[in-house]
Amino acid sequence: MSALFTPVTVRGVTFPNRVVVSPLCMYSARQGVAQPWHFAHLSTFARGKAGLVFAEATAVEAIGRITPACLGIWNDEQVEALKPITAFIDEMGCVPGIQLAHAGRKASTSPPFLGGKPLTADDPDAWPVVGPSALAVGEDFPTPHELSVDEIRALTETFVAAAKRSINAGFKAIELHGAHGYLLHSFLSPISNQRSDEYGGNIEARMRFPLEVSRAVRAAVGEDLPLFFRISAVDGIEGGWTMDDSVTLANALAENGIDVVDCSSGGVSGAPRFRLDDAGNPLTKSSARKPGFQVPYAERISKETKLKSMAVGVIIDPQQAEEIASSGQADFVALGREIMHNPFWPLHAARTLNADTEFDLWPKQYKWAVDRRAQIAPLSN
Ligand SMILES: Cc1cc2nc3c(=O)[nH]c(=O)nc-3n(C[C@H](O)[C@H](O)[C@H](O)COP(=O)(O)O)c2cc1C
Repeated sequence: MSALFTPVTVRGVTFPNRVVVSPLCMYSARQGVAQPWHFAHLSTFARGKAGLVFAEATAVEAIGRITPACLGIWNDEQVEALKPITAFIDEMGCVPGIQLAHAGRKASTSPPFLGGKPLTADDPDAWPVVGPSALAVGEDFPTPHELSVDEIRALTETFVAAAKRSINAGFKAIELHGAHGYLLHSFLSPISNQRSDEYGGNIEARMRFPLEVSRAVRAAVGEDLPLFFRISAVDGIEGGWTMDDSVTLANALAENGIDVVDCSSGGVSGAPRFRLDDAGNPLTKSSARKPGFQVPYAERISKETKLKSMAVGVIIDPQQAEEIASSGQADFVALGREIMHNPFWPLHAARTLNADTEFDLWPKQYKWAVDRRAQIAPLSN
């Protein structure tokens, strides 16, 4: 019996398996509106039968986009364009999810395949960026406007409006993007948040805005919808956010309507990054990127809090994913680059793990033919 392919229910939603398509920016939207590329991209993962297919970081307002080509969900046109995508994912028996995001001080950049640099002020597509403090991410990044308390409170409502639109668009799970140096994370980390009011200072104050957003979004979406929160479990910078802080945050998130903590790491600073091991020693870049390098973060959330956890980061092999799920290190296993490389990864993993010996997981349009093909010669997994 495969743990990876055992369904899991969170609130009112049953996920058919634990494989998750991690949010993956495609930098292919127009004015925040999904294009045929988004349908092709996300529907492929649904044909591949991932239990939960997350749409990429989707901005709650225009200045919250990472690039001018990022998805948004601040108007009705954007909602309408997402509806066929969620309908198709649903039709395949998978759960459509959306990651709601605000890029904060890391907004207004060019897509990675066009350089990934902050847009210069004279670029017609650039916009002023915002953050908890007037601290730039690093050299070449613009100095953000320090949000006022009224602006912070208004942003909570902006997240709420985006969450309501997400439901209208057909999404059945929502993730709040609290990682990678974007707005919510930048409030949490002492590297980027140096406010001296109620939204900065000690960890309680730095958590206030992300917790207010979580609580308000939960109140807006009702009790049935699963809410995920992606964290950068560690900043990996001296004086930054630590795994102990993440446990504190997770316990607070549990009190504020979040169900699952998705454990990523890093991204708060544009300065060279290094990560720390459990003893606080810097990891080299190569050791930090070994398979499953972020799984221990998810494991601590599972063991030390009431919340479910999601592991992500260089998870490649079906056996590796199965081990994470069966050992209880994480409840969900998310894939990014590997599932782009092989969008039918879940179908093949289910066969490798003997969870689908008869091709029953396959879409009916493929099953009858692939099944017959298998009788002629063995199929690769
Ligand atoms: C092309 C690309 C786009 C990404 N976009 C997002 C995103 O929108 N939101 C997010 O939280 N992480 C994003 N990430 C990070 C992935 O979700 C994932 O955490 C990371 O790639 C590690 O998983 P992997 O080793 O399986 O790729 C992106 C990564 C890639 C490669």
